[in-house]
Amino acid sequence: MRISIVLGTRPEIIKFSPIIRECERLGLDYFILHTGQHYSYNMDKVFFDQLELPESKHNLDVGSGSHGEQTGKMLIGVEKVLKNEKPDVVLVEGDTNTVLAGALAAVKLGIKVGHVEAGLRSYDREVPEETNRVLADHCSDLLFAPTENAHKILVSEGIPEDRIFVTGNTVVDAVYQNLELSKKKVNALSHLNLKEKGFFLVTVHRQENVDNEKRFRDIIKGLHMLVKKCEVPIIYPIHPRAKKQMETFNLESEDVRLIEPLDYLRFLQLESQAMLVLTDSGGVQEETCILKVPCVTLRYNTERPETLEVGSNVLAGTNPSEIVQKTEQMLNIERNWINPFGDGKSGERIIQILRDRFE
Ligand code: UD1
Ligand code: UDP
Repeated sequence: MRISIVLGTRPEIIKFSPIIRECERLGLDYFILHTGQHYSYNMDKVFFDQLELPESKHNLDVGSGSHGEQTGKMLIGVEKVLKNEKPDVVLVEGDTNTVLAGALAAVKLGIKVGHVEAGLRSYDREVPEETNRVLADHCSDLLFAPTENAHKILVSEGIPEDRIFVTGNTVVDAVYQNLELSKKKVNALSHLNLKEKGFFLVTVHRQENVDNEKRFRDIIKGLHMLVKKCEVPIIYPIHPRAKKQMETFNLESEDVRLIEPLDYLRFLQLESQAMLVLTDSGGVQEETCILKVPCVTLRYNTERPETLEVGSNVLAGTNPSEIVQKTEQMLNIERNWINPFGDGKSGERIIQILRDRFE
């Protein structure tokens, strides 16, 4: 069996890391095809270095661009590589443009597609990731659904049951594999002059938030109000897209402390030690749920409804007063929910399913 792992962005590198480690452990025939969607050191290579992942065999260096341009370049590049490498199966993870291009290129070449984190839906087609999710799922032969809820969604869309496998989410594996390591190896809090459970952590990068001036301004205003009201520092490792948009809109960060994007071990440490996290990230909604840290999501919907159901997360949207009110509400909750995303063995499970099918 020959596996091609197609990835391109920060969350894909992190969530594929348990699968890559499993391929290495078993000595499988696999290679990494990097589209180059993310390319800055702190959005890309830092994760390969820190998680000790092998270098990508191919990097398409596609970089940034409009959706059509970026996806189109990837499609051309991925197709060329797959034609030469002839894998039995192509794995994609999540909902980025890399996922869409990887799945589409493979299915048109008659190569089997495995979608890791299949079946997530926000039902909001204004968000580009939703289109990527739907199309990738419907191109796939093997759909690795993280939860029963995702499984149900896929069945309701007419995907045959025998293609769907509930495996858990590999983000749990990544958290379990790296949390202890982060305790041993890094001291992010003292470096940033923060106290355990004495700060809020923020990440905001979604196109629908940061490319929309009113929404981004409102979010920053809400965060500023929060600092004043709670007298708790806010730390925001800022994604390059959000940084660029702050400059475009002449937005002041007010009392919010901006820092560069962090490596995974440092970020995990901040996440696990935060009093609360405010975010629009998909992965961060999951990780806070796993780490038993309350989360306030700065969006109006989520494709991770399990986090709302168990009570680890709440939707606040982008209205400043709502951000403050939902944060205060979440500060008082009991952290006794059960993680719905699996037992940390999803990577092993996915590889076993592939071996059963292709060996
Ligand atoms: C992409 C995904 C999003 C995911 C996010 C993870 C799509 C449609 N979006 O969003 O789902 O949540 O990755 O972080 O695939 N930039 C850099 N350096 C980089 C990468 C990007 O400076 O290494 C800047 C560029 O100015 C670029 C902008 O960020 O134009 C946006 O990058 P892009 O890859 O288009 O989308 P993301 O916002 O990163
Ligand atoms: N992350 C990180 N450093 C940071 C911010 C996030 O390592 O400064 C990690 C985080 O732990 C999670 C992933 O990046 O595993 C989430 O990626 P992102 O928010 O960029 O994308 P999304 O999950 O929304 O697609």
